[in-house]
Amino acid sequence: MSNELEHIAIIMDGNGRWAKKRNLPRSAGHKKGAETLQEIVKGASEMGIKYMTVYAFSTENWKRDKSEVDYLMDLLRHYLKSEFDEINKQGGRILFIGERNMLDDDIVAQMENIENKTSGNDKFTFIVALSYGSRAEILSAVKKVSSSVAKGDILVEDIDENLFSSMLYTRNIPDPDLVIRTSGEQRISNYLLWQLAYSELFFTKTLWPDFTVAELKEIINDFNSRERRYGKV
Ligand code: FPP
Repeated sequence: MSNELEHIAIIMDGNGRWAKKRNLPRSAGHKKGAETLQEIVKGASEMGIKYMTVYAFSTENWKRDKSEVDYLMDLLRHYLKSEFDEINKQGGRILFIGERNMLDDDIVAQMENIENKTSGNDKFTFIVALSYGSRAEILSAVKKVSSSVAKGDILVEDIDENLFSSMLYTRNIPDPDLVIRTSGEQRISNYLLWQLAYSELFFTKTLWPDFTVAELKEIINDFNSRERRYGKV
């Protein structure tokens, strides 16, 4: 049996613990985690997965030590400047979801640059949740819908799931079929709360830097053996 698998969402957790186990600074875990991410995106696109969304930085992550936030932002700068070009070469379109106003201007400019540069690519779509929080995303959609009603552009009766989805950062992106969280934690942590309504959940003890394409394949096999009912019998 096989289920349709268009979109995988991932919570990449455990970089800090990976580093601690090796007596390395947390930054070393993030560096290795970013390399793992490149491998997984490549592997998933080669398997024909059309969409992959990864949680790279949550709105809550801004509360970490300044040195760790600065390291993650510099790592991101590096990936935006060079490494993400690999995804462009593989025919991937790159999108970012999250609160852009909290990010430095040079980073936002680079993000927009990559989104524009890759907008014509149609092999797969790689979505990076950056400075992302799902409740903030939902509230921003509520504000957009309310303001359309207040202006008289739409009626309250017009508000349905499709209209609301179109007000989220993920408009035009199908909901994830499968969500994977690494490192043994079993939480959703303010990630894609609306979009994950019917997703299959997978939790693995593997720390993100150790995650491999082989394990991704095992998870996909397990996903294929599950019966998805969407509330029906
Ligand atoms: C969670 O591990 C991971 C993060 C908060 C950052 C995820 C970022 C990457 C994998 C790098 C991505 C890079 C780019 C360029 C997009 P943790 O630090 O919470 O680990 P811990 O729970 O073991 O402390």
